[in-house]
Amino acid sequence: MLAPGAATRNAGPPFVLLISDRPAERSALERAIALVMDCKAVEPGAVLPSIRPHLVIVDAPPDRAAAVNLVAGASARPVPCLILARGGPAPFTGAHVRQIPATAPRQVVLANAFAMIEDAARSVEARKRRLIEHVSGATAIVADLFDSAALGAGLRQSDIDRGTELVLDAVSEVGIGAWLEAVWRHDIGVYQHTLGVAGHAATFGATIGLSRSDLGRLVRAALLHDIGKSRIPVDILNKPGPLTPEEFRLMQRHPDIGASLLTAQGEFEPAIIDVVRHHHERLDGRGYPDRLAGSAISDLVRIISICDVFSALTERRTYRQPASGAEALSIMVEAEGHLDRDLLRAFTPVMLGNETLSA
Ligand SMILES: [Fe+2]
Ligand SMILES: [Fe+2]
Repeated sequence: MLAPGAATRNAGPPFVLLISDRPAERSALERAIALVMDCKAVEPGAVLPSIRPHLVIVDAPPDRAAAVNLVAGASARPVPCLILARGGPAPFTGAHVRQIPATAPRQVVLANAFAMIEDAARSVEARKRRLIEHVSGATAIVADLFDSAALGAGLRQSDIDRGTELVLDAVSEVGIGAWLEAVWRHDIGVYQHTLGVAGHAATFGATIGLSRSDLGRLVRAALLHDIGKSRIPVDILNKPGPLTPEEFRLMQRHPDIGASLLTAQGEFEPAIIDVVRHHHERLDGRGYPDRLAGSAISDLVRIISICDVFSALTERRTYRQPASGAEALSIMVEAEGHLDRDLLRAFTPVMLGNETLSA
């Protein structure tokens, strides 16, 4: 049996998981369902696929059927489940569950299965649409923030709050993998990086159990961390290759520029300005701009630094292949003296367990 969260991951083409202890019925249903969608048919107790099915059909006695709910219903977004009941109370219930008698004619079982496949497909489509709306909204907000900063106009708190809500809602609904897929499809460059860091921060913060208000502060800090880049010439920002020493020095000014910009506006909390100014510091004191070391670097800064480096390594750039999550993490773990090791350890399973919205 899988761990509860394992089957919530989407990958590959959608499929129906059929768990049945009646071999003849199992192969008849498998053949019929395979006409509309891939179908994996197994006996109760068999090893289950590690990716999220589109629909689970359970045809088993109540005690064996109840165990399937670990896969079908324990996640935040339960897998739709059709139970072919053998009598007695339902082994589990919920909006994702439909139950019909195991004695129902096969056409009735199939009609129910096909209706549930269609419903699930519709809700995946609806989630994809909502995700695109969230990414479009958040990108427009980040673009506006960078434009305002470039022009020396004030940054609107209501925009930052709205951007924070969009990131938090989308990441909690579809997961970081689907968020990044949409962000990467939707835009390029610094906005994409900003939304990637914000998505990772939302996921990381939720995983370590931050309160909603701390989570909001973390995502706001992520949305603003590179705001100083709004004053760096675009041809340096988007240069498809390594920077010259002169360009690099200019680029390294963005934390200072960003922090000054927020300080001048006079309405940002010190913790946010701290992130903007110090997200390129290193624990060993070899970062910039202030060469802070150890305990002088706050937890909020440490979290954003990890999300920032991870995002940068895994982003698609024109001049290099993105690192995989595992490759990025090994680079980060080996970079002695840069990042907080305990937080990095807490971050690791999050980044190796990305969800996508492909099914
Ligand atoms: Fe930065
Ligand atoms: Fe960054």
